[in-house]
Amino acid sequence: MVERDSEPLAATVLGDQQAVVMRPLGEDDHAALLAFGAALPQDDLLYLEDDFQNSEIITRLISACLAENWRQIVAVVGDAIVGYSAVRRLPGWSNHVADIILLIDEHWRRSGLGTALAQAIFDAARDLGVNKVIVEMLEEQQAGRAIFERLGFRVEGRLSAHARDRHGQRRNLLILAYYVS
Ligand SMILES: CC(C)(COP(=O)(O)OP(=O)(O)OC[C@H]1O[C@@H](n2cnc3c(N)ncnc32)[C@H](O)[C@@H]1OP(=O)(O)O)[C@@H](O)C(=O)NCCC(=O)NCCS
Repeated sequence: MVERDSEPLAATVLGDQQAVVMRPLGEDDHAALLAFGAALPQDDLLYLEDDFQNSEIITRLISACLAENWRQIVAVVGDAIVGYSAVRRLPGWSNHVADIILLIDEHWRRSGLGTALAQAIFDAARDLGVNKVIVEMLEEQQAGRAIFERLGFRVEGRLSAHARDRHGQRRNLLILAYYVS
């Protein structure tokens, strides 16, 4: 574990002049992250690997907020979390690779916040010192693909019927990658 402060990393002003602060997830964010998860639309819950409505999962994320190989950045308005992102260095023989998760509250979408938070977590990935960054998503998640392709990521793999959604239906998984060096 390392010391890491929770000072804002960046702020962004969205089209309607609302200021959003991006800062590391902190130990006091449990209730806010749980509320963020509770408000996610059903479609997101269907497609997400982690269950953001499960209190134990939220506890695990909070307790990882100082983990050495993990960076978690939230977008915050007042006390409310409106966006969550994470980058984690993979274990074992892929420990030069990190993978990213990005999630924006439904009511805050299409105003540039996903792009801003993607940039912030991408910068954090560089800070982890990895050589390659990947993001996995279901083929249906077109918005995520658009954001990461704009950042320079390219589709590196498409695994057929590789993921099962919450209804048990098999979905194709895309892997987008960016080579840092
Ligand atoms: C993907 C996600 C983070 C985008 O957040 P956002 O705040 O709406 O992103 P932005 O406003 O920065 O949009 C960036 C671009 O994505 C694309 N995009 C966003 N929403 C889209 C949609 N519903 N359909 C198609 N393209 C979309 C557009 O190209 C958009 O740029 P534009 O508005 O200039 O056209 C959000 O939709 C989300 O949380 N989805 C569920 C989780 C997920 O799919 N995560 C990505 C994989 S980890």
